[in-house]
Amino acid sequence: MHAITDETTQIVDMVLEYARRRILSDDTPLDKPFTPAELRRLAGRTISDEGMGARRALALFENVLAPSCITTEHPQYLSFIPSAPSKAATAFDLIVSATAVYGGSWLEGSGAVYAENDVLAWLAHEFGLPETAGGVFVQGGTIGNLSALVAARDHADRLRREAGRPRPERWVVVASSEAHSSIASAARVMDIDVSVVRAGDDGIMRADGVRDALREHGDAVIAVVVTGGSTNFGIVDDLAGVAALKDEHDFWLHVDGAYGLAAALTEIARPRFAGLERADSLIVDPHKWLFTPFDSCALLYRDPEIARLAHTQHAEYLDALTDSSEWNPSDYSVQLTRRARGLPLWFSLATFGAQAYRDAITASIELAHAAAAEITARDHVRLVRDPQLSVVVFERIGWEHGDYAHWSNRLLDDQHAFVVPSSHAGRPNARFAIVNPRTTLDDLIGILDTMV
Ligand SMILES: Cc1ncc(COP(=O)(O)O)c(C=O)c1O
Repeated sequence: MHAITDETTQIVDMVLEYARRRILSDDTPLDKPFTPAELRRLAGRTISDEGMGARRALALFENVLAPSCITTEHPQYLSFIPSAPSKAATAFDLIVSATAVYGGSWLEGSGAVYAENDVLAWLAHEFGLPETAGGVFVQGGTIGNLSALVAARDHADRLRREAGRPRPERWVVVASSEAHSSIASAARVMDIDVSVVRAGDDGIMRADGVRDALREHGDAVIAVVVTGGSTNFGIVDDLAGVAALKDEHDFWLHVDGAYGLAAALTEIARPRFAGLERADSLIVDPHKWLFTPFDSCALLYRDPEIARLAHTQHAEYLDALTDSSEWNPSDYSVQLTRRARGLPLWFSLATFGAQAYRDAITASIELAHAAAAEITARDHVRLVRDPQLSVVVFERIGWEHGDYAHWSNRLLDDQHAFVVPSSHAGRPNARFAIVNPRTTLDDLIGILDTMV
């Protein structure tokens, strides 16, 4: 398996040839999930003592397993948050594997860590954080939010200890009623409470509600989470207002920009993120709107030393790493071994330059607004909220849950589009999440026309 033989050379060639075809394919269908019974019938038992050989295994993947995975980078994949990796980022992801880089420590991966940190420094600068800010690329927004909140709690705990005060009965994180489910998940993992601030009818969490929560819970609050682009609606909380509360209260400000913070790189959306420069930590997922393959989340801390104290793992076999003063990415999140998952973004960004990113993100925002105008102009559909970033939520007048489900299934069966039903305040709706520069207004109008 490890020797360089004719067989292993052929395997590498076959795999690279398949990857090349797939990356450069312009017409990969949307595809759709098979049932477990269908896959059992088509793929059967795939593992045996003898092995089936690479040719058969790859054919099985190409003909059965891959077509039963939805193409998340398809221009008409508009559900959840799609992926839309640049060709350069996807191709470079192969190199990340091929070079077997260990991304956890400077000792083992200095060049990779340097490149990742260059991207993080660029993001920090764009977002107005000080030059001393730093962090790490982790698996996704869920782990990014958890890691930031763990650092925030460690900091809050230390401050209370230094002040000679005991721990509160319960630590609290303050977040909007429209915050992503990963915040509640982090709170469950950490066994802390969430103080939920009700967002306004427009979906925005405002400073008044946060102030009330801070007054109620005092320094039991480990962090206030501002959502920089909610998943359901792409709405940005009142970041400027909440950040200004720092003049009255001492609290850790975390910005969950997993989906939306990429928009802060553009001129048209940057004003929505005023106050970002006061964040103590933030996340943005390159696998969402920064055009890299799964999975990658950039996690940044204003003061990385706080995170290092919270996260460094200590063990005898790790002393060689932890006794050094070099930058070890593993010290900044809840993981040790790590893939250098910031490298695909580094390569694509270094290749095309930041302006290409700004232009592509701006185009999605403009497309979302054009789609909203089309919806407003039609009698059979109704906009639920004006879009801010690139999520458009709308209702088909007169439809119930079952109608949306039926319509959505048909769209996928016809291989037309992937738009799963959603809902708001108990009312069913449909939602376009647009991050793919290849999605066009005609695509979206074509989908609206299927609802007539
Ligand atoms: C605002 C927000 N935060 C966190 C997450 C979780 O990110 P991930 O799915 O990468 O764990 C998402 C995912 O859509 C999100 O939109």
